[in-house]
Amino acid sequence: MRSLIDILDLSKDEIASLIRTADDIIQNPEKYAEKCHGKKLATLFFEPSTRTRLSFEAAMYELGGHVIGFSEAASSSASKGESIADTVRVVSCYADIIAMRHPKEGAPLVASMKSGVPVINAGDGGHNHPTQTLADLLTIHREKGRFSDLTVGLCGDLKFGRTVHSLISALSRYENVRFVLISPEELVLPDYIKEDVLQRGGFSFYETEDLEEVMPELDILYMTRVQRERFFNEADYIRLKDSYILTPEKLLTAKQDLAILHPLPRVGEIAGSVDDDPRACYFKQALYGKYMRMALILMLLEVS
Ligand code: NCD
Repeated sequence: MRSLIDILDLSKDEIASLIRTADDIIQNPEKYAEKCHGKKLATLFFEPSTRTRLSFEAAMYELGGHVIGFSEAASSSASKGESIADTVRVVSCYADIIAMRHPKEGAPLVASMKSGVPVINAGDGGHNHPTQTLADLLTIHREKGRFSDLTVGLCGDLKFGRTVHSLISALSRYENVRFVLISPEELVLPDYIKEDVLQRGGFSFYETEDLEEVMPELDILYMTRVQRERFFNEADYIRLKDSYILTPEKLLTAKQDLAILHPLPRVGEIAGSVDDDPRACYFKQALYGKYMRMALILMLLEVS
């Protein structure tokens, strides 16, 4: 039995296979409509979510399965003091697979060690978010046809942005990827990722506060919101929240085939007037997340 806690739990071959399955689901959705007949997904969301939870739910319904679960800690026994270990032991009796989001880093890992069914990390604190990365990878693959030879700009809250952490891990296995890290000084990428992933892997990376300076070089621009819920101090959040606002004017120097991604929700870091630009991929990206979650559920449930 396998879980997905970290994007590196999947080999490059398995990522390629998930992408092939997702592409096939997009082409032939009817082939998949009953694949998970009689199976149940439990969504245990101890932290708010729209896209991730609903796309897991939609994914399971489109595979012919059922969904049970909760969308806030207050409506679960966690509010009575139940441990994660006990919650997942119990939920394993009712569901075939679990998707868990939790504000504490490492909670889904603990859950996977106690669970009788596969656990998918649907975001743990400021740490990782592997299924968002699957959505990001399908988007990059469909836009660029490759993961190697790319200059990838990651912009915004690189400190707390878990989607950024997982995406860097995932892309660090491909050839000639250059990372451009664009953030205010207070929100730079954590040292453990710089040291363990980028420096150890011999990756070229460049840190800057200036998005416009690097715009002409980028093949991918991954925008993120400043993660208000992870700040200790509201005044710091207010000072930093509008550090970057992508507008059509700032895109004038960008490549014609730039792909603009954002895990969403956005809170001002991409102006609405960018949405009509053919380089804006973030709504497609949200749709692709559903197909990759379908492919992942099939893989973890070993449904062929
Ligand atoms: C992201 C998350 O939860 O980390 N959202 C998502 O899952 N699409 C990004 C965010 O909340 O900023």
